[in-house]
Amino acid sequence: METNVRIISTASYIPSKKVTNKELTQFFSTSDEWIVSRTGIKERHVVVNETTTDLCCQVGKRLVESSGISPKDIDFIIVATMTPDNATPSVACVVQEKIEADNAFAYDISAACSGFLFALSLSEKILSNSDNKIGLVIGGDTISKILNWKDRSTAVLFGDGAGGVVLRKEKGNSFIIGEKLCTDGKKNSALLARIGENQSPFYEGTIDGENGLKMDGKKIFAFVLKDVYKNIIEVLKKSLVDINDIDYFLFHQSNGRLIEKLSEKLKIDKSKCLINLEKYGNTAAASLPILLDEAVKNKKIGIGSGKLILLVGYGGGLSYGSMIIKI
Ligand code: ACO
Repeated sequence: METNVRIISTASYIPSKKVTNKELTQFFSTSDEWIVSRTGIKERHVVVNETTTDLCCQVGKRLVESSGISPKDIDFIIVATMTPDNATPSVACVVQEKIEADNAFAYDISAACSGFLFALSLSEKILSNSDNKIGLVIGGDTISKILNWKDRSTAVLFGDGAGGVVLRKEKGNSFIIGEKLCTDGKKNSALLARIGENQSPFYEGTIDGENGLKMDGKKIFAFVLKDVYKNIIEVLKKSLVDINDIDYFLFHQSNGRLIEKLSEKLKIDKSKCLINLEKYGNTAAASLPILLDEAVKNKKIGIGSGKLILLVGYGGGLSYGSMIIKI
């Protein structure tokens, strides 16, 4: 079925507190040299007194401003996050309140670092298959609150932030040219981050392991170079798009070395591969929309320019997917 959904604006919000690699040496034994050479990350931003909801509300406000839409015309808000503040209300419900999008339905989805891509795909389907016309899609996370700050192998990698887009049903073709979302639940133990213990007086179960995020970095590294690579090739093939015709590659900003290896395997021109992880680290569900918003702000990618972009997300679940969009 031919659809007609487009991205009409982007926005992002980064908390102001910046933490350099050097500052991390007060918490564990590490060095700027190790972090930069293994990951490409130089600094990240973390929340001091804001929450995931606060970051996403700022993005919601900026999306309303940048798109010029009336909040009353927003039909839905979907937030992708793995670090919500509450079981209820969802982050999206509070965004709906704060931006006065009184006519919108709102909910969160959870797919770790792939969350924004999954939410973008879902939102396009909602718009294409219903009479809804405008949707806000936001990815936001405060991974700093779930990190094990004694584990140097993960604590150096992540940062906090949020970003998003406004989708509107318009004349013309959908912005999605092709996509494929995947999950490999068999590898779920490669990235674990528990929510609190069951406090019920009847509960007798125990949970193994420590609190805080735990990651098998090597396993994820290998998974990206094998499974995510295959997924990208498959999407290009089924979309009948030649990889040389892609204008920009926006990969989940998890590790510069990993992105470099993936780019080499795909034989792509490095100048087409956008990177900002040196400033923000891995911001989970916020990584892709922040990268997209920066590229729009610095006029690399113009909305309505017709540029072809490959978005690739991967993370906990393990979840992953690729999407070719025309912006
Ligand atoms: N500073 C100094 N040394 C360190 C640090 C650190 N911060 N962290 C680990 N080391 C040490 C280790 O202890 C180890 O020492 P040893 O050899 O004496 O045992 C050595 O460095 C090498 O450690 P490795 O774990 O082998 O390091 P590796 O080169 O594999 O890099 C990394 C680790 C950066 C995590 C990498 O594996 C990676 O980025 N993987 C991909 C992660 C990813 O993409 N995740 C995305 C999903 S995130 C989400 O969904 C929320």
